[in-house]
Amino acid sequence: MYGLVNQAVEGLVRRDFGDAAWEQIKADANLDVDVFISNESYDDSLTYKLVASATKVLGVDATTVLTVFGRYWVLTTARESYGELLMATGRSLPDFLHNLPNLHSRVTLLYRRLRPPIFRVEQIGDSKVHVHYQSHRAGLEAFVVGLLEGLGQLFETPCAVRQLGERDEQNPACTFEVTW
Ligand code: HEM
Repeated sequence: MYGLVNQAVEGLVRRDFGDAAWEQIKADANLDVDVFISNESYDDSLTYKLVASATKVLGVDATTVLTVFGRYWVLTTARESYGELLMATGRSLPDFLHNLPNLHSRVTLLYRRLRPPIFRVEQIGDSKVHVHYQSHRAGLEAFVVGLLEGLGQLFETPCAVRQLGERDEQNPACTFEVTW
């Protein structure tokens, strides 16, 4: 994944757990990179290694790391560095979710080698949607939950997010129900 993702993991750990925790995570992951370059593409295994080491060093499970990271991505990384893109995607939670399927095609204009997830959004009721998620990467469902919860916080529209079904090799897609 692009360096900005690893940079954000670093930013979250340093902010909430301190510089020493980050140094420990880097050592545990055998990371030989000192500074991540945001527009350079890194092997996905590096990001997975960072998450695995964070669970060990911080003593929390991977689901928690990924969920907290999803919220941080929206509320800190995206808000501070991609505010215009966020606001162009939507000004309210329903509006943003409606446009979510197009968001990463805009990001691809900035990062040409992006391998983005695919989203499809289905309106279920006045304040309920199903977000269908598909990706060639495994194990990031908790990240999606955190991202969607973060959007609820961003737009001051608290929402409940529930994963419907599991992804596996036979079924690479899954659905999240978002209710507000
Ligand atoms: C302006 C805001 C955003 C930017 C700049 C952005 C950018 C990115 C980038 C650079 C990656 C790494 C992919 C790669 O390097 O190949 C990524 C991955 C991802 N993004 Fe976004 N993103 C944004 C907002 C969102 C939002 C709001 C959601 C969902 C609600 C989302 C869902 C994901 C997921 C799930 C992945 C993990 C990759 C995967 O599942 O295959 N992103 N995004």
